[in-house]
Amino acid sequence: MVGGARLQGEVRVTGAKNSVLKLMAAALLAEGTTTLLDVPDILDVEIMAELLRRLGCVVEHQRQSQSVVISVPATLEHRADYDLVRRMRASICVLGPLLARCGVADVALPGGDNIGSRGLDMHVEGLIRLGATAVNEHGYLIASSNGRLHGASIYLDFPSVGATETILMAAVTAQGETVIDNVAREPEIVDICQMLIAMGARIDGVGSSTLTVLGVDALEPVTHRAVPDRIVAGTWAVAAAITQGDITVRNALTGHLQIALEKLQIAGAEVSELDDGFRVVMHDRPRAVDIITLPYPGFPTDLQPQFIALNSVADGAALVTENLFEARFRFVQELGRLGADVRIDGHHALVRGRPQLSGAPVDATDIRAGAGLVLAGLVAEGETTIYGVSHIDRGYAGLVPDLIRLGAQISRVFVTNENP
Ligand code: UD1
Repeated sequence: MVGGARLQGEVRVTGAKNSVLKLMAAALLAEGTTTLLDVPDILDVEIMAELLRRLGCVVEHQRQSQSVVISVPATLEHRADYDLVRRMRASICVLGPLLARCGVADVALPGGDNIGSRGLDMHVEGLIRLGATAVNEHGYLIASSNGRLHGASIYLDFPSVGATETILMAAVTAQGETVIDNVAREPEIVDICQMLIAMGARIDGVGSSTLTVLGVDALEPVTHRAVPDRIVAGTWAVAAAITQGDITVRNALTGHLQIALEKLQIAGAEVSELDDGFRVVMHDRPRAVDIITLPYPGFPTDLQPQFIALNSVADGAALVTENLFEARFRFVQELGRLGADVRIDGHHALVRGRPQLSGAPVDATDIRAGAGLVLAGLVAEGETTIYGVSHIDRGYAGLVPDLIRLGAQISRVFVTNENP
């Protein structure tokens, strides 16, 4: 890619990756055919589809209509193999539904990944409270229950997205009432609650810090449209701000991006809300903005690299504090290759804005780091080559064609050896 173009035009975001993957897992809870709509054409959806097939489902990903149709049999396999879990950590979201449906679930342990250690302790402790036993054998977490799970009172030490989902999906068919306190409140959690309720689950407190679940005997399959992807929408918003451009983002919910859009306004952008999205216009060099990542409704960690990219060309210095994933700053080394001035101290990054970055070959280490590097490349002088784009494919559908439509000079080339 060659930096310098002012991006202008419209994009439409699809359903959220972080919702769709969990909705696909939730489909396991009901025998029959579940249809999910507004599904992005990304690698992670393919991996999840493959996992569900190995569990015995028939899965059809219809790209034209952006839907996934999942036929769930009466009897499921209960093992999620390492070769899939290592490719996509989110595979562990089948743990709760498999335990609920089969009374046993063998899920490969994901191990470390590029953004930190990411434990499973709260998932496991929650399942144990619901009456399961859990052992770690040969790299697999094996959870099992003697008969039906039972309701319990569970308090999460931290509002973990994954642990909330695992416990919720196990509790919806448990015997009796489960109260889960200090749960994550991300829009993707609300989305899965809404789908489960449509399937017949009884859940109170949706969107609050406490979920009360009254277990039901069985759930029915449904058709459900996934919530729009706030992180993709937020990435486009930053693309407008960093390139001093003008981008209209359709199918986005501004309410889900309030802090991020407010930060862009502080940076100097004009943000206007539309019926089905928003528009971000930037006329000048952005001003530096401080960021502190926190669980929703705090600033999303999944937009942190994009905002570091923005700050790297902003007027002034910004302090960025990362509270969720310790290794999320690793990508800063790559940003440094483009000339960014970022100093890391523990979970703080001090970003001193530079008038100009300079294009170079860089390596995308995870999905959001990749997005941050693309944004930086859009404004770097000269040519930037981003390797490891398969990471970006995991979360962003059709990014390159969209960027070209908006005026970016970018192309995708296939190389046999991705090492620069
Ligand atoms: C999800 C999102 C990810 C997003 C993150 C936070 C998906 C597929 N991924 O990840 O994009 O960045 O939410 O919004 O939806 N933790 C423990 N023990 C546990 C569970 C979590 O220590 O049992 C820690 C993790 O190490 C991490 C923090 O809690 O430091 C947050 O993790 P969590 O909210 O669970 O994120 P994920 O569900 O993994």
